[in-house]
Amino acid sequence: MLTDSGVNAMSDNQFAAFLNADDAYAGSMTFYEFADAVKDILGYQYVMNVHQGRAAEHLLAKIFGKPGGAVITNYHFTTTKAHIEVTSGSACLELYADEALKTKSTHPFKGNMDIQRLKDAIKKWGKDKIGYVRMEATTNLLGGQPFSMENLKEVRKVCDQHGLLTVMDGSLIAENAYFIWKREKEYQNKTVAEIIKEMCSLVDLFYLSGRKNTCVRGGFIATNKKELIEQLEPWLPLYEGFYTYGGMSMREIGAMAVGLREMVDPAVAGCSIEQIKYFVEKLDGMGIPVVTPPGGLACHVDARKFVNHIPKEHYIAGALTAALYIASGVRAMERGTISTDRAKDGKEVYADLELTRIALPRRVYSISHIEYIIDRLNWIYKNRELIKGLRFISEPPVLRFFLGKLDALDNWGRKFCDVFKKDIGGTW
Ligand code: F0G
Repeated sequence: MLTDSGVNAMSDNQFAAFLNADDAYAGSMTFYEFADAVKDILGYQYVMNVHQGRAAEHLLAKIFGKPGGAVITNYHFTTTKAHIEVTSGSACLELYADEALKTKSTHPFKGNMDIQRLKDAIKKWGKDKIGYVRMEATTNLLGGQPFSMENLKEVRKVCDQHGLLTVMDGSLIAENAYFIWKREKEYQNKTVAEIIKEMCSLVDLFYLSGRKNTCVRGGFIATNKKELIEQLEPWLPLYEGFYTYGGMSMREIGAMAVGLREMVDPAVAGCSIEQIKYFVEKLDGMGIPVVTPPGGLACHVDARKFVNHIPKEHYIAGALTAALYIASGVRAMERGTISTDRAKDGKEVYADLELTRIALPRRVYSISHIEYIIDRLNWIYKNRELIKGLRFISEPPVLRFFLGKLDALDNWGRKFCDVFKKDIGGTW
């Protein structure tokens, strides 16, 4: 439950595609079948594979970023921001609406971009300084919250008025489309497939990490604009691989083609969303602070409210995530200040939200797994005073949450284990 990325269960037809793949370095038929699926499902004529989502982010930041300028987004993802800043030397502007940071909310589209803030940013920076405007469907670090079609249309309109390039991160597009279907009135009579196609028609460039909605390991960039793909093409063999594999195995490309066709099925698009809804609503009903409304990819616990005695300097969500691991064996993900790198001058940058993300990979878990975690979270909530903060004992310079090492302040883990052992049992 650390992530929903690369750990989803493939379908029987995806496994069949593994076996049937045409393993050629150049001109593999499997690639052309994949390109057909991209055209059928997303409506794009040009596509290039990359080894995973962040490789797409690297190429986009390198080619379309403006050093000294800015890239605009509804909200950042960790690797996205790192590429915008490190690869393109741009500032990453996050133009979400105020509601986005309210963890307890009924707003159906907390992933929307604030249109007034977009207009203001364009005025401030000038269109020549803005590399592109990126919409992430759904916003991972806000708790898997979607944007509405109406909002995407407005973003597109403003970008057109200023000749700005629009980009969509579609790693979780099927889920964003599912939310539009369920929550946006005008789309209730459309299919998830139709919604996905319409979303794709509203941006110039599309990329995704295939590790999420398509349930395989890889990624791609797609567009209908020849002049855009032509700018990216020369760099593909240098950073990824030849044009008909782009750093992926042909087997994964075959399975990705099937995954694309399958993700538009509402039973697939909604499979983890409905589990998350159950998970979130149950915790919310018990008074345990979670991000509402329920989003995609995970149940997000609001650590700032859960352990409100821990100061922000002591990595609130990291501490709660460690406690969950001790009390349940469930490895969740810190999505807070540990996941936010320091500023250039070494100063700590405190995250907007301190979340413990309990990811729900697709077609992997059942309700009884969720019940187990709810039971343990309930115990932790009652004993939350035992949890203290953390401190870094080794800290890498970029994406520190991957390789950093932390220690428990005052060795609180010991006492926590002892009380847990007395209450629940187990050996430590
Ligand atoms: N964009 C989004 C919205 C993502 O969630 C991720 C990865 C990426 C890009 C990068 O893709 O991993 O294939 O290189 N998210 C994973 C997670 C790592 O745990 O949420 P990648």
